[in-house]
Amino acid sequence: MSSQTIERKDHHLDLCAGSPVEVVRPGALFDEVSLIHEALPEMSAADVDLSCEFLGRRLRCPLMFTAITGGTARGKALNLALAHQAQKRGMAIGVGSQRAMAERVEVEDTFQLREVAPDALIVGNIGLWQARSLGVDGVRRLADRIGADAMAVHLNVAQEMVQPEGDRDFGGGLKVIGALAAAFGDGLLVKETGCGISPATARRLVEVGVRAIDVAGLGGTSWIKVEHLRAGASTTGALFAEWGIPTAPAIAALARTIGGQARLVASGGIRDGLMAAKALALGADVVGLALPLLKAWVAGGEANGGEEALDRALDAFVAGLVSAMVLTGSRTVRSLGEVPWVGGPTFERWVERLCLGAAPRPG
Ligand SMILES: Cc1cc2nc3c(=O)[nH]c(=O)nc-3n(C[C@H](O)[C@H](O)[C@H](O)COP(=O)(O)O)c2cc1C
Repeated sequence: MSSQTIERKDHHLDLCAGSPVEVVRPGALFDEVSLIHEALPEMSAADVDLSCEFLGRRLRCPLMFTAITGGTARGKALNLALAHQAQKRGMAIGVGSQRAMAERVEVEDTFQLREVAPDALIVGNIGLWQARSLGVDGVRRLADRIGADAMAVHLNVAQEMVQPEGDRDFGGGLKVIGALAAAFGDGLLVKETGCGISPATARRLVEVGVRAIDVAGLGGTSWIKVEHLRAGASTTGALFAEWGIPTAPAIAALARTIGGQARLVASGGIRDGLMAAKALALGADVVGLALPLLKAWVAGGEANGGEEALDRALDAFVAGLVSAMVLTGSRTVRSLGEVPWVGGPTFERWVERLCLGAAPRPG
């Protein structure tokens, strides 16, 4: 990994943990969704079963720590803390982009989590534009080298466009994804990084064989804001600070159009157990989060106390999810998916327009 890339990695952690990098308006739009209350749930909180199937494995909780980091000593410490939690709680963990270890073999150990998380679902990560250069065999090697169960390929066109040194050529992406889907089968996850995936795009992904999609929508960490803060006023970042598809309508529209053809991860701005419950009710199979984990770990003192802070944050998150399940009378994640909900006007307009865009074009 070049020293420029190493510097960038830790700078990203600092910026994300300490600066306003989240999209405030319109946000993920979960505030426009209400779940219908069940006054007579006829169950005990102890009856709640959070387990679910994902990427060919059984999770004890429908939560994924989506890609954050790797490549530096600090990144390694955070990855290990997250891996402990994933192992302890039966959650899934994604490592940050493995571009670093593709370029410099000596940073590989910062991504090695199998020893501390022997049973956890571990997901590798690479950007689509790097995957295009590496080829299927190169991506397979990245997964194998860390003993990953599955591989995530991230889409980040907006970040590249506002990054002064970013890629500008985005041709041939779908073909690369098709080749990866053929090689990895159910073990391929295609994810965005904060701008969302529309049903029309998801349909193209499904058509080339993709079976798992993380919508990573607007409303949480914005890489446009991060890059703008990092590079200053010289970028087009300010112009696009609110660019993307809010997470809540994105997941509802995906469930309505391609649900059943791909497993769906809802991420992007999910900050508590109630938002997670709403995402699952809207049709997600699993909920993902990134920034709250980094913030809890940094606020807790990183190597000294970071993991206890993470533990407390995750306890609170799961408690919120369990409460929402009791309050909707949902014993299982599947039954939570059938809970009725009410959506506000902006949310509904987004869902309607997104679904319309996924309809086959006439002629
Ligand atoms: C510090 C940080 C680093 C990230 N690095 C990656 C990455 O390397 N690869 C990737 O696919 N996504 C990366 N993401 C994006 C997240 O996985 C996630 O899609 C996005 O942040 C939305 O979730 P959030 O709002 O909970 O943060 C990163 C996010 C953060 C906060």
